[in-house]
Amino acid sequence: MFQTGGRMLVPFYSNTQEMRSLTPDLRREFAFLVEQDTLVNGPMVKRFEKELSDYTGAKYVIATSNASDALELVLRSLGIGPGDEVIVPCYSFFSSVSCIRKVGATPVFVDIDAPTYALNLLDVEAAITRDTKAIMVVHLFCQMADMQALNAVATRHQVLIVEDSAEAIGMTQNGVHAGRFGSAGVLSFFPTKTLGALGDAGAIITDDPKLAVAMRQTGDLGRDGSGLAVRRGICSRMDDWHAIVLSHRLRTLKANIERRQEVAALYSRLLGQVPDVQLPRLTSYVKSGEEVFYVYLVQVKQRDELAKFLLAQGIVTETYYPMPLHLQPAMSDLGYRVGCFPVAETAASKALALPIHPEIQKAQIEYTVEAIARFYSSR
Ligand SMILES: Cc1ncc(COP(=O)(O)O)c(C=O)c1O
Repeated sequence: MFQTGGRMLVPFYSNTQEMRSLTPDLRREFAFLVEQDTLVNGPMVKRFEKELSDYTGAKYVIATSNASDALELVLRSLGIGPGDEVIVPCYSFFSSVSCIRKVGATPVFVDIDAPTYALNLLDVEAAITRDTKAIMVVHLFCQMADMQALNAVATRHQVLIVEDSAEAIGMTQNGVHAGRFGSAGVLSFFPTKTLGALGDAGAIITDDPKLAVAMRQTGDLGRDGSGLAVRRGICSRMDDWHAIVLSHRLRTLKANIERRQEVAALYSRLLGQVPDVQLPRLTSYVKSGEEVFYVYLVQVKQRDELAKFLLAQGIVTETYYPMPLHLQPAMSDLGYRVGCFPVAETAASKALALPIHPEIQKAQIEYTVEAIARFYSSR
C-alpha cells in the first residue's frame, strides 16, 4: 500500500505492477528491436496492427502517432475540408474539435445527454444542414453513445459518422467494438488509457478498404509505399517499441477491464450511501459487460473544494472536462456563449473523476469514499 507518514496515498492512475511483470518480456523484444533497421511502422507495428484487428474485429488497422492525428487523418481522407460542417459534442477532449479546425471545416457543437455524456440526438438532428458532412460521435468514460439511433439519423440525412473512440478500447454495443459503426474510429494509447503505450500512440480502425489505403498514405506524408507522394499528408506513424508494449498489454487487457468493472462496482456500492454524490449511470442499451470504466465519473456539488480536500488527504482526482469546447478561447470566433449547452455546462462544473485502475486496492477505494463522506458531513 502507498503510505507516507502513516497517511494513505491514492494515485489517480498506476500500472507499475503490470509493467514490472512485463519487463523481462519487453527487455527481450527491445533487445531484438535495437538490432533492426526498421524502427517505425516496422514488423512490431505490423504484428500489433494484426492483433488489434483480431481484437476489435475491424478489417483494417492503421497505427498512428496518437489519436489526435488519427482523427485528422480520418477527416482528411474522407475529403472533409473548407465549406463542410462537422457536428461534434461540446463536452469532450479538445482533439475531438481541433481535428475539424485543422482540416479547415466548421465545427457545429451540440449538447450532450446527461447519463451517457454522448451527443444529444435531438440536437444532432436539429443541427444538420446542407453543408453537414459528418457527425463526430465521442464515446466517453465508461459507455458508448447509442449507435443504432445515431446510425438511423446519419442514414436519414446521408451524412457520415466518424467515431472518436479514443477512450473506448474494449467497449462494445451488440457485440460490435467501438469505432466500427461509422466510416472509421480512432483509439488512443496515451499511457493512462485502458490500453496505454510508453508515450503517445494511437490507431484508426475501419472496414473500408479504400479509406484504409487513403488514411495509411495520408499518415505517411501522402506516399503510396513506392516513394511517390500521391496525396497531401502528414507524418503520423507508430514507433515499433510502442507496438511491443501494446502487444504485451493487449494480452492483459481483458483482465484489466474486468478489474476496472469490479472497482467501479465497489465505488458505486459504497458511494450509494453518500447522498451528495451522483453516480455514473449505465443506460439500458449497454448490456452487462459492454461497459469499460476508463474513467469513473461522479457529479458532485462544490466539486473544486472536494477535489482540494481529497488531495490534502493524498487522493488524486481529475476534472473531466472543466471547460466545454464551445467556451474555449480558441473557439471564440464561432460565437457560442455561456448557456448555449446547459447539460454540458452543468457537467463541466460538477464532474469529478475518482482514481480507477487495475492496481487500486480495496482499502484505497474505501479510504476515498470515507473522505468524500467526511467532506459532505462537515458542511
Ligand atoms: C475523447 C478523446 N479524444 C481524443 C483524444 C486524443 O488522444 P491522444 O492523446 O492519443 O492524441 C483523447 C485523449 O485523451 C480523448 O480522451
